[in-house]
Amino acid sequence: MIPSVLPTYNRAPLNFVKGEGSWLIEADGRRFLDLGAGIAVNALGHAHPALVQALTDQAQNLWHVSNLYQIPQQQALADRLVEHSFADTVFFTNSGTEACELAVKMARKYFFDKGEEQRIEILTFDGSFHGRSSAGIAAAGSEKMTKGFGPVLPGFTHLMFGDLDGVTNAITGQTAAILIEPVQGEGGIRAVPDAELKALRAVCDEHGVLLILDEVQCGVGRTGKLFAHEWAGITPDIMMVAKGIGGGFPLGAVLATEDAASGMTAGTHGSTYGGNPLGCAVGCAVMDHVTDPDFLDEVNRKAGLLRQKLEGLIDGHPDVFEEVRGTGLMLGLKCKVTNIDVVNAGYDNQVITVPAADNVVRLLPPLTLSDDDIAQALIRLDKAAAQLASA
Ligand SMILES: Cc1ncc(COP(=O)(O)O)c(C=O)c1O
Repeated sequence: MIPSVLPTYNRAPLNFVKGEGSWLIEADGRRFLDLGAGIAVNALGHAHPALVQALTDQAQNLWHVSNLYQIPQQQALADRLVEHSFADTVFFTNSGTEACELAVKMARKYFFDKGEEQRIEILTFDGSFHGRSSAGIAAAGSEKMTKGFGPVLPGFTHLMFGDLDGVTNAITGQTAAILIEPVQGEGGIRAVPDAELKALRAVCDEHGVLLILDEVQCGVGRTGKLFAHEWAGITPDIMMVAKGIGGGFPLGAVLATEDAASGMTAGTHGSTYGGNPLGCAVGCAVMDHVTDPDFLDEVNRKAGLLRQKLEGLIDGHPDVFEEVRGTGLMLGLKCKVTNIDVVNAGYDNQVITVPAADNVVRLLPPLTLSDDDIAQALIRLDKAAAQLASA
């Protein structure tokens, strides 16, 4: 008999009932160190007092009004995002997938309004992940995601990750945009080198193509800058954000330049819940923390410490791990044993990690994790690796 929850996930037998900072508490009382943060969502950890306060204050006043009316919390969050990024304007969504939908629509509408309606093609890369909607799976293009779901939405060309010549050769008179994650998450923590991001920006400028960055997983302080592309010193035309911006409340956004957004006039797009007062009140509180330069300095310090300790872990377990990759607090352990076995051994030792493609185990801890948490992470990962080595 089919479970009452549609069985699209292979769920671990873990039943968390409470979260505190970097820790999750199981119904049986066991404390797990959370190095997954809901897959890069709980940027400020669990039950951060400022987020609890923002949500409860807002909940006591007004939960929801339609986007037919002014929403001051939405305005405040948009203003903060515009102030701290390349963007001139923001549309709020409930998720990264919906941000992807709008990013694709926005790019195509841009050219349509300029009389170049043939420019609908979006270039994307193998190993990418942009969500599970029809546009999201078409953008990623892998058989794993598209097979069995009927006609794949046309207008996406898939290129090899890192193949810059392929990009230049693939640009035609039909190309609207390049869509890329500065650091692939689901694809196995694969960072696009700064030089490559710069080159992509240059190619876009040369051919009048829009650059869309998917920072759903790598944005909002995760790499040690507010947005990952800042490391490369470039700016996109359109950017998708989600996960960390809501700190656990479902919230996403599309940020864009005035020019790139010029086709999105009244009536061209909408969302019932996107930009809802509850989500935006929490988003403002997240932004107040992650835009503090001291906060990002701490992320970078802790990222350096964690990475250095992970290098030691790999040296100690050469049969289990191959390398550590990634940037900031978006790290991947490329495994020699099966990555799922590492994740499961982590559960045995009360540490949460997340599997990714390319046999990688992801570490995406709360950006607020402490030095003690890092020490605990290493103790637990070391025990997990020892358990696998002796198996
Ligand atoms: C890079 C990237 N884009 C888009 C998405 C989809 O976001 P959501 O699950 O919020 O719809 C994800 C989710 O993992 C992601 O990592």
